[in-house]
Amino acid sequence: MISPSPFPNGSATNSWWRGGVLYQVYVRSFADSNGDGVGDLAGLIGRLDHLRWLGIDGVWLSPTMPSPNADWGYDVAHYTEVDAELGTLGDLDRLVADAGRRGIRILLDLVPNHTSDRHPWFVEARASRESARRDWYVWADPGADGGPPNDWTSVFDGPAWTLDEPTGQYYLHQFLAEQPDLNWWNDAVRRAFDEILRFWFDRGVAGFRIDVAHSIVKDSELKTLDTQPGVHDVFRRWRTLADGYDPRRILLGETHVRELELMASFYGKGEDELHLAFNFPFVYADFDAGLAEVVADTERLLPETSWPVWTASNHDAGRFPTRWCAGDDARTRLALMALLTLRGTPVLYYGDEIGMTEAELQPEDLRDPVGLRRWPKDWGRDPMRTPMQWSSAPGGGFTDGGAAPWLPLGDFEGRNVEDQRADPTSILSYTRDLIGVRRRLQDLRDGAYERLPSPAGTWVWRRGASVAVALNLSGMRTRVQGLTGAVAASTGPTRPGAAVAGDVWLAPWEGVVVENPSP
Ligand code: GLC
Ligand code: CA
Repeated sequence: MISPSPFPNGSATNSWWRGGVLYQVYVRSFADSNGDGVGDLAGLIGRLDHLRWLGIDGVWLSPTMPSPNADWGYDVAHYTEVDAELGTLGDLDRLVADAGRRGIRILLDLVPNHTSDRHPWFVEARASRESARRDWYVWADPGADGGPPNDWTSVFDGPAWTLDEPTGQYYLHQFLAEQPDLNWWNDAVRRAFDEILRFWFDRGVAGFRIDVAHSIVKDSELKTLDTQPGVHDVFRRWRTLADGYDPRRILLGETHVRELELMASFYGKGEDELHLAFNFPFVYADFDAGLAEVVADTERLLPETSWPVWTASNHDAGRFPTRWCAGDDARTRLALMALLTLRGTPVLYYGDEIGMTEAELQPEDLRDPVGLRRWPKDWGRDPMRTPMQWSSAPGGGFTDGGAAPWLPLGDFEGRNVEDQRADPTSILSYTRDLIGVRRRLQDLRDGAYERLPSPAGTWVWRRGASVAVALNLSGMRTRVQGLTGAVAASTGPTRPGAAVAGDVWLAPWEGVVVENPSP
């Protein structure tokens, strides 16, 4: 029996997403149900048991809405539908229900900064300067020399302005010319998005990951591309809307900013803007003991009631087993330990749980507009978006049809879910065990974070009174002193339950979680 609301509202400080583990599914690459080489919603439904077994509480789906795919779904042509290649609205409803039955919530990707240039709004806006929707986008007259209005450049290279010749004005696009930026000063745009949020919330979607959240509101004088304070009004508006649902829906921002102060500001006073803001200074930090500084700054800067997010891989930034760990499994285990035991919500990227690395591709494999523009200097984002490696069967368990996968598979014979599930010492078994320890030890979910003094190259912290975590982020065997208790998890061969008494010798890139530590 499905109860009408399987997820009763937690209190503000004890919500499912605080103690839970989130997981990003890049739908096109997760599981293909119909043999066309493209992952789809039915494929994901067929793999929900893997996520349940792993201990995942919420899944964020990369864009599912109809798109001409100039930027693989991040150019949306219809905000309240499902892209035909990925499935139907009925499939999405089924996903929400089937996931819900397994205690897993579904978050969608919302792209409010820009639409596709084929979206009917933009088609109407560009039809004439007098169009009723003209002002839904950001238009400007040519500069004095007839060129672009200013020197802004696109994140994907080239000018951020494209001339619409028939109407003689330029439109703004922070990304591709096929992704015109919306004008968030226009109240009709705000109202249209309220409806979009409601549409999905009404269908039981648990929240949104919000694309380019920090920069949707533009400087009205077009002087700077920096984040505008006006964005906070939009976040507060969405938060009020999300809080109006039972259970409350959540907002997870792609707050792609360099400064932690700015990132922290997107939480508002703590309970009135985003629930969670992705921490890009952490994502882009080196994987060494210096990471502790980013964590200390984050802990210091976030409003008291706010909650950090820890992630290290995604569809833009790369896979951490490659980027941080150079394919070395010991380091991958250590990174997973940090992600899953810091105070905050971990967001794993599909494949992190098997230590999946970035794939080596051929130039003709490239599909990402960034790689297609920048190759050979930069291969773009395809190497981090290759299909999930489920088994060593042909097609990697991702697809079993005749069609080639839309991106080639990586090393699916060397690393896949099926083989790792059968091996209790695999990264997959380890990840699941760690998530289990997180579920078992309440202090790992909500205990305060406090760094403890430790030798160079190591990073040791307490979570609440009952847990300590010690990581050796160096290639040298190192002694950490003053830890007494029982091992709850270890990256190495030390078995859970083993006693530690005062000193722990950590092998290179070894980490342990100790429970009931006495000072
Ligand atoms: C975000 C997405 C990225 C996309 C861009 C433009 O950064 O994560 O994949 O290309 O926005 O929508
Ligand atoms: Ca398919």
